[in-house]
Amino acid sequence: MSGAVPAGSPGPGALEAAARARHADLPVGDEKTALVRSMFDTIAPRYDLVNRTMTFGLDVRWRRRALGALALPAGSTVLDLACGTGDFLRLLAADGFRPVGADLSWGMLAANRTGAPLAQADGAALPLATGTVDGVTCGYALRNFTDLAAVLGELGRVVRPGGRISLLEVAEPDGGLLRLGHRIWFRRVVPVIGGLLSDPAAYRYLPRSTAYLPSADELRRLLVDAGFSSVNRRTLSGGLSQLLTATRSGRP
Ligand SMILES: C[S@@+](CC[C@H](N)C(=O)[O-])C[C@H]1O[C@@H](n2cnc3c(N)ncnc32)[C@H](O)[C@@H]1O
Repeated sequence: MSGAVPAGSPGPGALEAAARARHADLPVGDEKTALVRSMFDTIAPRYDLVNRTMTFGLDVRWRRRALGALALPAGSTVLDLACGTGDFLRLLAADGFRPVGADLSWGMLAANRTGAPLAQADGAALPLATGTVDGVTCGYALRNFTDLAAVLGELGRVVRPGGRISLLEVAEPDGGLLRLGHRIWFRRVVPVIGGLLSDPAAYRYLPRSTAYLPSADELRRLLVDAGFSSVNRRTLSGGLSQLLTATRSGRP
């Protein structure tokens, strides 16, 4: 696997993420992994309710777009990495895919009632053999990974040549009123809603965690280094979300 970062060793991406996080006074390394796991364990029971409320249901539409962009035939085996309570898994099954889910948090997996095969696993060390999945979806988890380069390296390992990945993440509109409105909503209102409906500390952390996110150029570079080509990044709903798609390099 050319250029992929082996799971377990901190690659350059991890070092850059650590620098960004320290700058924003956020945890790194094992401390981050422990915090992320316990935070999702805590918020799992009301995760779906808060998600729908804070995105006005737009997250459902964004996941649909991500599935369409996967461009794989029905019957394909698709790993939903960081599957959480299973929104992507449900859509994948409804579209005739063979979904499997993996997530770090037992709490999120316990709230996942999709019936899909599930594994409790860190994305940086997936319990899957090399080249065994046709595609990967991943919703709103890139900023939660402790070593994003290692996770993308794992995707490069488990996806077969010619396979596809479709990764959704939060974004920020480029400018104008939408950017201002988004800032107020995401940084001021969401922590209040999340605090009322669920766990205040977790929903104060949520807007701050965007500091972990690499720039668009860095994300592209990480994907290429992980063995992907045809990397495409587009923004959704005026820049409220971003969708990254790519094809595993190599002859199918
Ligand atoms: C914001 S939630 C997204 C859940 C789901 N994908 C969705 O679209 O609603 C982020 C998920 O990433 C999971 N996660 C965080 N770090 C992880 C890791 N290193 N490996 C696997 N899953 C991880 C969390 O447990 C949580 O379920």
